[in-house]
Amino acid sequence: MKNLISMRDIGKEDILKLITLANKIEQKEIKVDMSGKLAALLFFEPSTRTHFSFETAVKKLGGNTFSMSGTSSTSVKKGETLADTLMTISMYADIIVIRHVLEGAARFTAETVAVPVINAGDGTNQHPTQAMLDLYSIQKTQGTLENLTIGMVGDLRLGRTVHSLAQALSDFNPKFYFASPRHLQMPAYIKDDLKEKNIEFTELEDIKEVIHELDIMYVTRIQKERFAVLEDYEKVKDSYIITKKLLEGVKKNFKVLHPLPRVNEITTEVDNTRYAYYFQQARNGVFMRQAIISELLNLKNI
Ligand code: CP
Repeated sequence: MKNLISMRDIGKEDILKLITLANKIEQKEIKVDMSGKLAALLFFEPSTRTHFSFETAVKKLGGNTFSMSGTSSTSVKKGETLADTLMTISMYADIIVIRHVLEGAARFTAETVAVPVINAGDGTNQHPTQAMLDLYSIQKTQGTLENLTIGMVGDLRLGRTVHSLAQALSDFNPKFYFASPRHLQMPAYIKDDLKEKNIEFTELEDIKEVIHELDIMYVTRIQKERFAVLEDYEKVKDSYIITKKLLEGVKKNFKVLHPLPRVNEITTEVDNTRYAYYFQQARNGVFMRQAIISELLNLKNI
């Protein structure tokens, strides 16, 4: 692995290797040394978890960061191109983490600079480090990634996390239920990938019908910021509200995951049930991001 841009670029072997490494880091079985190295954290789009967990991951490895949140204090405001900005940053940093509103921006970065690049989310396309921490969370809660029944709920068209996760899980023989409003269904190219791999999936509008079959319910936000017309968002914004009552009778091993942030799609009463795992999921992101940085920079254990 030189870069991590899309889950399409890595296979089952890489996934399992990263999960094993993340687990060893979490269990303190190994200590990875990033001292003397700098990570540039370039967030052209807002972020809480991805930005701060990368910052935490780098600092826990003994490395350092410099970062941006938006372009307001950079020379992008003076008209500097993305390519020139990236080239300049790559003269200072050993690794670049980039989140950008444009699909393909992370791939463009990897093609522009010589240092390793991590995609921290590019538009509606991919969020591979989120998928990796999701897989780590699924492995930890289910004891396996194989043969699980996974429900994905919410904005499956514009939500990049579900694109990456569906592709990532496709190596592990899942059964998928995709619950979304009709206009926010999983994109055709993801479904085509799944068909090619003979992965069973069903599209529906109401997750209630199948919730008792699920091992994992992966809930996502309807993303207001990605709608061109506010009225269209208003029509679908309350399509899914997961309540404690809805979870009555689910399987014992059932967990609710969510990449966060949430708005109103999971009520806070769910937080105190044994099924809620989304904050632990965010914590798992630190270990997984440490593992990913370690692999891309080929860091030594101490
Ligand atoms: N899950 C996720 O990407 O969250 P942030 O947008 O806060 O980074």
